[in-house]
Formats: sequence, C-alpha cells, structure tokens
Amino acid sequence: LTRSLRLVLLSLIAVAAAMAAAAAFVLVEGRFTRPEAATAGGDVGGPFTLTDQDGRRVTEADLRGRPSLVFFGFTNCPDVCPTALFTIAEAMKIAGLTKTDLVPVFISVDPERDTPETLKAFAGHFSPDIVALTGSPAEIDAVVKGYKAYAKKVEAPESGLGYLVDHSAFAYLMDANGRFIRTFAPSGDPGELAAKLKAALGKTS
Ligand code: NI
Repeated sequence: LTRSLRLVLLSLIAVAAAMAAAAAFVLVEGRFTRPEAATAGGDVGGPFTLTDQDGRRVTEADLRGRPSLVFFGFTNCPDVCPTALFTIAEAMKIAGLTKTDLVPVFISVDPERDTPETLKAFAGHFSPDIVALTGSPAEIDAVVKGYKAYAKKVEAPESGLGYLVDHSAFAYLMDANGRFIRTFAPSGDPGELAAKLKAALGKTS
C-alpha cells in the first residue's frame, strides 16, 4: 500500500467508527437518562429559530414554561412518523396531559417539501396541539445537530417521491427550562408511553 492509500483507508475507518458511535448515541431509548447530564442550556437541545405551521417564527424560548416532547420527521414519511405522532397524541390523552402540561413538537427534517401549510394539515390530523416546525435547510441542520438527532436524505426513485429522509425515531422529553430529560421510542403502545411520560413528569394520578 502506498502511504496516501493507507491514509485514505485509515480515515475511512475513523469515519465509520464515528458514525457507529453517533448511531449508538441516538438509537438507545432513554440513553440520556438524567437531566443533570445536560448542562444548563443543554448538551441536547439548545437554541433554534424555526417557522411554525401558522408561519410564525418560533425559538426555543417560546417553548419555555412547559415541558415539551420533540420529535423529528417528515410529512411524507411512510410509517414511522404517522405512528409516532399517533402514539404521542394517544399517550397524552391516556395520561390526561394537555398542552399546558406538555407541548408536543414535530420538527421537519424535509424542509424542502414541508412548508408550514403542509405541516399544518399533517400535524392537525393527529392533534391540534402539536407545534409543527420547519425552516431553511441550514436552520433544520442546526436543530438536528443540537438534539444529536439524525437525518439523511436517501434517493428513492421507486417511491414516487424521489427521495425519503432516513431519520432518528426518538422523542426527546425536555423540561420547562428547555433542558433535556430523556428519550422515548414512541412506536408502540400508547398506554405504555402514557405511563412513562407521567412517571418522567412526576404526575402521580
Ligand atoms: Ni418518519
């Protein structure tokens, strides 16, 4: 092997290892289990500026004062996102949590196609309480990075959509000060998620 080829191979191995570590980081439910693990301002989360389904500019400060449950996805998602939003909306009903107890937030990872109008129709189908956010590609990249989430466009010519977006499928529970508490996988039983949310929010009844 030439020296330059060796260097290329070594850097490819380093990139693969870093990607595997990043995947493990986002793919284990509840992995970030303690709010203390996030510093003030947040190791997970942090500042963002996005646009909601009514065209208003929204920052992280607008979510303060109430805990929030943040999910990343896109409106053309064939199954993961509809299942997640359904599970979250049902779990909140079962737990008796209103939008004053917990704000469900949906952040698009497909800013090119998800306009505020598209988001409004999609999120409204699951719950009128969902705050659905989109933005410029740069704004979305920044918020995805801030939450240590994952989103990657994948070509899908056979789907009729041209491309899909591979994305992490966890909901991030943030406290009323915007600090990270833990993740949930909202893909299963709404009753189970309801119980977990109540426990995490310290609701006893
Ligand atoms: Ni999805």
